[in-house]
Amino acid sequence: MDILVVGSGGREYSIGLALSKDANVEKLYFAPGNGATDTLGENIDIKELTQLADWAKERGIDLTVVGHEAPLVDGIVDIFKERGLVIFGPSKEAARLEGSKVYMKNFLKKYHIPTAEYIETSSKEEANRFIEQLTPPIVVKADGLCAGKGVIIAQSQDEAKSTVEEMLSGEKFGEAGKRVIVEEYLDGYELSIFAICDGKDFKLLPAAQDHKRLLDGDQGPNTGGMGAYAPTPLIDDKLYEKIIEQVIKPTLKGMQDEGTPYEGVLFIGLMIVNGEPKVLEFNVRFGDPECEILMPLINSSVADLLYKAATKKLDEIDIKVDNRYCVGVVMASENYPYSSSKPAEIIIDEIVDDDLRENSHISFAGVTKEDGKLFASGGRVLVCVGLGESIHEARERAYDLCGQVHFVGKKFRRDIAYQAI
Ligand code: AMP
Ligand code: GLY
Repeated sequence: MDILVVGSGGREYSIGLALSKDANVEKLYFAPGNGATDTLGENIDIKELTQLADWAKERGIDLTVVGHEAPLVDGIVDIFKERGLVIFGPSKEAARLEGSKVYMKNFLKKYHIPTAEYIETSSKEEANRFIEQLTPPIVVKADGLCAGKGVIIAQSQDEAKSTVEEMLSGEKFGEAGKRVIVEEYLDGYELSIFAICDGKDFKLLPAAQDHKRLLDGDQGPNTGGMGAYAPTPLIDDKLYEKIIEQVIKPTLKGMQDEGTPYEGVLFIGLMIVNGEPKVLEFNVRFGDPECEILMPLINSSVADLLYKAATKKLDEIDIKVDNRYCVGVVMASENYPYSSSKPAEIIIDEIVDDDLRENSHISFAGVTKEDGKLFASGGRVLVCVGLGESIHEARERAYDLCGQVHFVGKKFRRDIAYQAI
């Protein structure tokens, strides 16, 4: 198969890395890719989606895999399908599960899928009346995509009210904030579940845990994610069963009933409250950095899995999941997540230890290449990934690898996977 991966982050690099080792894959392309994906395949510099689809058609691409949400929400899947191309991801309408929190919450309510109590509104007065019934903390969310910044946990009713006002005025998030969700705060622990879906069937990947805060001990501002590990011991068969029966199956059935069957990765952000799963959010793509630690745990063909999902044939295959653990530590640039940083050259020591070389690798994200040298140019620069027989061993290897990577201003959390140790 010739495969096109759309995106430029560590997530897309890790999908490409898995595909580059896959016997079913001949040629690999990235659009636009990053300064390291060119070692796995060819980078294609076409951003406009119809032009990209025309290119894929002309080139005879067998499968396109979309990494990030923006092109999905913009309808890349519809554009490719109109040309008879096979593409893994949800249609524009199905991508509203991530693109609009109002749509998502109303969908959950309609199909009786457990989630936090809420109202959705564009009226300040209505929001305030609901806020007055809640005990802080109170959660306020902008409707549209806000690059992970659209959720505010207010510590008082007044703060919740002023947040709503700022969002509705369009000051804070523009159009994305002109409708808001106000919801009850759920107290529990978070889990990320990934289901590969073909509209009616699904395959589960190992449950993962992300670390959204910048600093150790879950302090500091929210980020896209500073590290992740899988599988997490915070889930057992009973909880899996609840998630499948109460969340995944009714979601797939509901999306069919809506006339927008869900194809692609369904990334379910859950809060587990007293053993019961409640949906915080859906994402319509792999998590980043979760993808970087899930790809190495899939022992069967990733190309075949995504192709079967994109052609509604998931029932024909089984996926083989590695029984080891995987830990990924994000190395970010100096000013992340506040502002960009001056590009800094990345130096990676030669890994002389056989054990480390065989059980760890780097997934490159915000990097550019100049004269053969790699530079840290984005916020999240790369992910050091370690595999092991235990979480402890996987984590040691990920951190040993971090010690071999150098660039000015590098920063990373020292406590990834702490909940599991
Ligand atoms: P979301 O984008 O909706 O997943 O929200 C981002 C983060 O905010 C989540 O990962 C949670 O840590 C937190 N969060 C969102 N909604 C709630 C809620 N109702 N109760 C507690 N925490 C929440
Ligand atoms: N790591 C969380 C996300 O990709 O949304």
